[in-house]
Amino acid sequence: MDKKYIIIALSYALVGLILGSVMAATKNHGQMVTHAHIMLLGFVTTFSYGLCYKLWITNSSTKVAKSQFVLHQLGTILMLSGLYMMYGNLIENHKIEALMGISSVAVILGLILMIYQLIQTNRDNQ
Ligand code: HEM
Repeated sequence: MDKKYIIIALSYALVGLILGSVMAATKNHGQMVTHAHIMLLGFVTTFSYGLCYKLWITNSSTKVAKSQFVLHQLGTILMLSGLYMMYGNLIENHKIEALMGISSVAVILGLILMIYQLIQTNRDNQ
């Protein structure tokens, strides 16, 4: 699970840096919010989850770990796609509000499950 998270995180870094470079080269910063979220939610947050699995969560084959992975990955990809469409004026905002809401809840639930697993791991080691 840790390596999978790190590979996905670095892939987001690649996409985010390419988008940032395109923004800089074209002097069109319209996708700044998307770039910032790809870098911070896609790259930094996903990377930190990879480290959590590597350093503390010993059993990543549990249902909780699998749900955490699905929620974070699905939430993140939906949110980033939604932001890209919104800030690229590819879709009207009201048509994408539900998707943004669902993706936010998925990302938050993914975080809650990560906190839960870390607390559980501490308890298991005591
Ligand atoms: C190749 C490297 C990068 C390039 C070319 C790049 C490019 C840009 C550009 C052009 C902007 C818009 C600035 C503006 O309009 O004020 C921006 C904003 C931003 N970037 Fe990057 N970026 C890079 C790397 C990163 C990294 C590594 C992170 C974080 C891990 C990051 C996070 C952000 C954030 C949070 C903003 C929004 C800043 C604000 O609200 O003013 N960027 N970037």
